[in-house]
Amino acid sequence: MTRRKIKIAASILSADFARLGDQVATAEAAGVDYIHVDVMDGHFVPNISIGLPVVQRLREVTSLPLDVHLMIKAPERFLADFASVGADILTVHVETCPHLHRPIARIRELGCQAGVSLNPSTPVYSLEEIVPDVDLALVMTVNPGFGGQTFIPRMLSKIRRARALLDERNPSAELEVDGGIGPDTAGRVVDAGAGVLVAGSAIFCHAEGVAAAVSQIRRAAQS
Ligand code: DX5
Ligand code: ZN
Repeated sequence: MTRRKIKIAASILSADFARLGDQVATAEAAGVDYIHVDVMDGHFVPNISIGLPVVQRLREVTSLPLDVHLMIKAPERFLADFASVGADILTVHVETCPHLHRPIARIRELGCQAGVSLNPSTPVYSLEEIVPDVDLALVMTVNPGFGGQTFIPRMLSKIRRARALLDERNPSAELEVDGGIGPDTAGRVVDAGAGVLVAGSAIFCHAEGVAAAVSQIRRAAQS
């Protein structure tokens, strides 16, 4: 089967924060395409993670695109700040933005790529009117908030429907999936139409190390 070029985004949520620079360098050397940064506020999701100073330092140690996933309420408050410290992609959740066109337009004005994300229970049709304006759509394949959760199999049909919507309205936009992605699920999500695979624990908690993990995911995605 001919497949699109698949990108892998390494989610640092599962990295060892005491040696984050090394972990990112190892992921970069292993050939990942993006560094995925999960920003959590303890309100939109039941966890707190990292924010602006970490993105700022990462910008100084990697040339890979920084794919910043904002799991925070009212994300428009922080778009300019994340752009100024070096984010390349800024993804906001549909569920946090009642006036979604505004933050999406703002992200692009700030010179970043604009992403929009859906929780597992949010329907694909909520993207219909915004899809022409985005660079990336992110289908969550777990409920956001934590690394190491189990992939929700029903999300496969949702990925297919998101792919169809993008093909119809914005074929150049990327379709990213996030949550429970690893060698066991990569092939299925790619078959369903995903083009960017976020992986955290599958990369940073792999017994054989980051390089082996990335090559296993890539092999699974391309077989
Ligand atoms: C979860 C985050 C993910 C997380 C994925 O809310 O958005 O990016 O790091 O972790 P894994 O790949 O371990 O499921
Ligand atoms: Zn994420």
